[in-house]
Amino acid sequence: MHIDIVTLFPDMFVGPFQESIIHKAQEIGALSIAVHDLRVFGIGRHRQVDDVPYGGAAGMLLRPEPIVAAVESILDRPVFRGAEEPPVDVDALPPIILLTPQGRPLTQRVVSELADHPRLVLICGRYEGIDERVRQYLATDEISIGDYVLSGGELAAMVVVDAVARTLPGVLGYERGAEEDSFASGLLEGPQYTRPPQFRGRAVPDVLLSGHHARIARWRRKESLRRTLQRRPDLLETVELNDEDRALIEEILREGKHKGTH
Ligand code: ADE
Repeated sequence: MHIDIVTLFPDMFVGPFQESIIHKAQEIGALSIAVHDLRVFGIGRHRQVDDVPYGGAAGMLLRPEPIVAAVESILDRPVFRGAEEPPVDVDALPPIILLTPQGRPLTQRVVSELADHPRLVLICGRYEGIDERVRQYLATDEISIGDYVLSGGELAAMVVVDAVARTLPGVLGYERGAEEDSFASGLLEGPQYTRPPQFRGRAVPDVLLSGHHARIARWRRKESLRRTLQRRPDLLETVELNDEDRALIEEILREGKHKGTH
């Protein structure tokens, strides 16, 4: 997987991309990342990238030309769907993703979908916004990492890179990998414990020390369902539950442990 990032603040990415999973993904060759400075594609002597909005609103907007120039330089072909230009075969391009609070929400499903592409281009918006023509005729996708406004798309791009990187083959060293994460199954993960078995009078649940694999698996599934019921019941509406899951939910409800604890 190769990810290109277009940003006015390339230095923001230096630390986060040199640590932990994103670093490892690059080390093992599962991921390469190129951060491109939008300023390089700025207009004129001052390398201008932004301007005042037409119609007299407050703030500054990113102009379209530098962003289009950056992406066309990265992909080495015309990608802007201009009115008088030959049509662009969007399906032959990597996704060109604008990070914006107006985008479709990032979920684990979206992460998997992105991870299936060999290449992604991420465009980080900044200032008060971006010229609409970038959204309409350059971007092929728009993603939001949540219903709040960041001061730019950089942190959102890092979130996308991290979430994608950890799903790439070989990146998570341990066997269980990303498949058992919260959300991968559509449910939240249940509680987990490590040593010591007793800590200040608080014990690890007996079943986990029992060595009884079937019972442990059933307990894990039940606790995962319980946690999802407690914290994100909305997730249960889309997840596929089997008969045993439904029986476990009945049990949880009978126990009355589906309320509270957040
Ligand atoms: N840029 C600013 N806010 C954002 C958000 N919530 N998600 C993605 N990009 C953003």
